[in-house]
Order: sequence, then C-alpha cells, then structure tokens
Amino acid sequence: MIQSILRARILATAVLNPPLLFSQLFGYDWYRDTMLDWVSDLKIPTGAKILELGCGPGNLSAHLAQLGYEVVGVDKSERMIKHALSLESKALFVEADAYDLPFEVAAFDVIILASLFNLVPDRPKLLLEIHRALKPGGVVSVQFPLPKFDANIAKNISSKRNLPPLSTAAMTVWASVGKKLNTTQIHDEFAKAGFDNISTKLHLENNIASVSGSKANTNVA
Ligand SMILES: C[S@@+](CC[C@H](N)C(=O)[O-])C[C@H]1O[C@@H](n2cnc3c(N)ncnc32)[C@H](O)[C@@H]1O
Repeated sequence: MIQSILRARILATAVLNPPLLFSQLFGYDWYRDTMLDWVSDLKIPTGAKILELGCGPGNLSAHLAQLGYEVVGVDKSERMIKHALSLESKALFVEADAYDLPFEVAAFDVIILASLFNLVPDRPKLLLEIHRALKPGGVVSVQFPLPKFDANIAKNISSKRNLPPLSTAAMTVWASVGKKLNTTQIHDEFAKAGFDNISTKLHLENNIASVSGSKANTNVA
C-alpha cells in the first residue's frame, strides 16, 4: 500500500516537476553510482572535452566539471537547463535539440547519454549528429536499462540493499516505465553509424547497460 502511494508520488513528480525528480534520483546511491561507475569505466583522459546529451538537471555534468573536465550539458527542456544553471557549476549548459547541435564539427572528445538514447524516436539520426560532433578517435557512450529489468528485480535489489521506501519506489518506477533496449541491436546501430571498438558494460547488478564506441581516427597524409 505504502509502495503504491510512493510510486504514484514519483510518477506525479515526473509529470509536474521533472528537474526535481531527476535531481532526487541523483541523490540515491544506486542511481548515482550507476552513472559514476559508468563514466569512471570510460577512463576519460584529463583535459578531455565532454558533451552530455539529455543532461536533465545537470548533476552528472556538474560532477564531471568538478573533476576538472571541460563539460557541456545539453537538454532540450528549458526547465532542465534552468535547474542545471542553478547548480552554479563550471559546466556550461545549453538548451538545444540533440539532433541538431549548435557546435562545430569534431568539437568533443567524449559524448555521453544517460537515459536518452532509449527515448529518442530516431537513433540513427542522433548517431549521425553525434558522429559529426565527435573528434576523430573520440568516444560515444550511451546508458540504458535492459529488457530484463522489471519491478520484481528492482524490489529484490532494494530489499537486498535495505533501501528506504521512497528509494525502492523510485527504482521500481524506473524498472517499470523506463524504455528498454537490447545491447545487440545497439551494437548494430553503432556499427552502421561508423563507430569502431564497440563494447558493452553492465551496471546495477547487470540490469543497466552502457554501449560505447569510437569514431575512426583517420590520419590524412
Ligand atoms: C530520462 S531524462 C534523463 C536525465 C538524466 N540524463 C538522467 O539520466 O538522470 C531524459 C532527458 O533527455 C532530454 N531530452 C529528450 N529528448 C531530447 C532531445 N532530442 N535533445 C536533447 N535533450 C532531450 C529530456 O528533456 C530529459 O531531460
């Protein structure tokens, strides 16, 4: 009973105040660690220029800027960008559509997307734009839930970790309504878009995946 009330509260926040919801999620260890383990696995070199697409309220971009990277967070939602700017971090935040980025060709070393690649209607078009914005040798990495991640798995993980009720409800909502992708399909799409060195990593007890690839490093003689 309490769980269904909490889930309803989370769903209402998703509709009424998305920046608040995604900031609250970043406050939960399991959500934050899923993101931080992912970006740490990427072993991004010092001084790299990072673009985060679908940055939401900006917490991950702000964290990366804090680590010393040059970071740009992009989101098409004015409310998300307004919230991100209120963090007063060193990251730059820009309101823009990920399909049509206001940046030069080959502007970034790394482009990351958490819970955006699984939402967009046209992934090949987005990959084309990412390819354009990446430097040769640059890396793209997208994170998304796997098809097996469901409410029961979320409840099991939460009970094993002794999570408080609201945190449990948040994970259960993500597992129930988050759009899922399978890694084989994403590998194919990356390859078709011209990315090399495609690899997968698993997070949150193998329920969340990240797929990464690099833009070919063409040396023109
Ligand atoms: C599910 S939220 C993820 C937020 C954050 N990355 C996270 O994982 O907590 C998806 C975000 O992508 C943004 N978004 C959706 N379509 C977009 C697009 N075409 N271009 C830029 N941002 C987009 C939404 O406004 C939203 O902030």
